[in-house]
Amino acid sequence: MQTSACIFDLDGVIVDTARFHFMAWKKLTDQLGIHFTEEDNERLKGVSRMASLEIILGIGNIKPDDCRKLEYAKLKNDWYIDYINKMTPDEILPGSLDFIYELRNANIRVAIGSASKNTPLILARVGILELFDAVADGNIISSAKPDPEVFLKAAEMVGIKPSDCVVFEDAIAGVKAALNAGMVCIGVGSSEVLTEAHYIIPGLKEMNLIKLRTIEKDIRS
Ligand code: BG6
Ligand code: MG
Repeated sequence: MQTSACIFDLDGVIVDTARFHFMAWKKLTDQLGIHFTEEDNERLKGVSRMASLEIILGIGNIKPDDCRKLEYAKLKNDWYIDYINKMTPDEILPGSLDFIYELRNANIRVAIGSASKNTPLILARVGILELFDAVADGNIISSAKPDPEVFLKAAEMVGIKPSDCVVFEDAIAGVKAALNAGMVCIGVGSSEVLTEAHYIIPGLKEMNLIKLRTIEKDIRS
């Protein structure tokens, strides 16, 4: 059984946008008088915008009404968009493009599976919108990771069954989502954090087709 599709999370796997999320949330938390650290920001990886806001409000023990919450989320997103609008192709993480081209040449489908509603904007800013056979993102799903919806949707869009898909993920919630989808999951990041992933690499620079074949053979045998 060989991989027929690779599904990539976007933030933290193909581009490093966590720092922009942090900077934008920090502006909001400073306004609200909430002490918000980079360590707290780790908890927001892979988590949807509104769920991230809930975590932050929990840290500050603030309980605004729903209308105010939407206002806060919009403020944060407007600042975040200011940052991502300045992104360039140089910000694509090392090794990502080489690996994706290698997959495409081998006729393996490539898709994005991201919680972010800003996915199309980010892909366009870094110039890789056309590179993917399908983009499943926060705009078309109703259940956030660790629910498998976004990955199942990506698999459906490329016409490949879930068990023939491999997901690349940097967030705990995303690894859980991939496993819940019945897919092979390669964690991108720290082995201390992504303990549930089938295999862990520090970044896509460490991945190529031969390695992928070896890993999947071990996992699927
Ligand atoms: C995920 C990020 O990819 O997208 C989270 O890891 C973020 O930190 C989530 O909250 C939603 O992003 P957006 O762009 O829709 O606010
Ligand atoms: Mg991510």
